[in-house]
Amino acid sequence: MNIPLKTLESPAGDVFAAGLEGIVAAETVLSHVDGAAGRLVLRGHQLEQLADWSFEAVLALLWRDLARENLDETQIRLRLGAARVVAFERMTSALPALDGLSQVEALRLLLSLLPDVETECHHLVAVASVPVFAAAIARRGRGLDPVRPDASLGAAADFLRMLHGAEQGPEKVRALETYLVTVADHGLNASTFATRVIASTQAGLFSSVIGGLCALKGPLHGGAPGPVLDMLDAIRSEENIAPWLTEALDRGERLMGFGHRIYRVRDPRADALKRAVSALRDTGGRIGFAEKVEAQALALLAERKPLRPLQTNVEFYTALLLEAVGFPRESFTNVFAAGRMAGWTAHVLEQDRVGRLIRPQSRYVGRMPA
Ligand code: COA
Repeated sequence: MNIPLKTLESPAGDVFAAGLEGIVAAETVLSHVDGAAGRLVLRGHQLEQLADWSFEAVLALLWRDLARENLDETQIRLRLGAARVVAFERMTSALPALDGLSQVEALRLLLSLLPDVETECHHLVAVASVPVFAAAIARRGRGLDPVRPDASLGAAADFLRMLHGAEQGPEKVRALETYLVTVADHGLNASTFATRVIASTQAGLFSSVIGGLCALKGPLHGGAPGPVLDMLDAIRSEENIAPWLTEALDRGERLMGFGHRIYRVRDPRADALKRAVSALRDTGGRIGFAEKVEAQALALLAERKPLRPLQTNVEFYTALLLEAVGFPRESFTNVFAAGRMAGWTAHVLEQDRVGRLIRPQSRYVGRMPA
């Protein structure tokens, strides 16, 4: 069946836009994506200002005046630590059920163990649980036992500790923290919209954020950073960068980690992550190599598509950063979920305040009865 891909107005005056492109479906105080200016604003702060904040400080910012109790950064850090320990206890007996599932399917299963009981701190429990589950799932993929959380650490430091089985250096912790902050919220992206739709039915916070995770799982949303590493693997050597990229473009392929639907200038998240990745240059990995690939890719794209500004997007440096701090690429979507859970929970809290069921209409284009 042919689905119209542009905005159409029917004789009745209703407007349809495929993919809801350009349609405003919610008002929010949480974040603003300005694609033309290359700007991301979270509750009055530009992303560049937040990139050095702790993840807990950003949670305090997002949840402020939406949760029943306003907690500061220190209180959130303490409560998240305690909630990680509870999540670990809850998880251990469920681990055998994860066999045969992909890492994101395993996270979906573990999150579904959390009951939709209305409590004052369910948003905290959701954010605390993801790193515990994601680290255990990644270790299980390597045949390793899960590592018990250390409630005294910050969320990013403990996430890496639970992944590796030992505390990691401050550069790696800072890099992961910057990543979690950078992806915390991003307007009404597909997973956040899905989360808000479910929240609007009053199904409960965990049901809502699990819906968000299901939307994030798709390759058009949260599943993209893996292919950037596949591209770097395929290029292999510096001499091969230009020939490989040229041949890929000649075949009409897209270069992974470049271009964006909304940003027409540089994605501000790519810059924040590039700075964080640069600090890891001395810890090994292929950051220098990737920067050379980026430079040549941008030059080739500018030459081939002079009318279409194609810049580095968030996925390029996400892939490098998560690889440099030690996450296997199969776990990248789960790490994304650990950061985006901040936004999902804040949107659930905001949607609860709106209190209006999200129920748009469809336009019937099928046959009518005779
Ligand atoms: N490499 C090469 N060419 C690209 C490109 C890329 N990464 N991204 C877009 N283009 C080209 C298209 O081929 C098209 O060229 P044409 O007009 O000559 O046919 C033009 O730019 C417009 O493409 P379009 O699909 O309309 O752009 P979009 O804004 O809808 O696409 C993406 C956005 C992200 C889907 C697209 O840039 C892409 O596929 N990027 C690679 C995958 C990626 O990095 N995904 C993560 C996104 S955060």
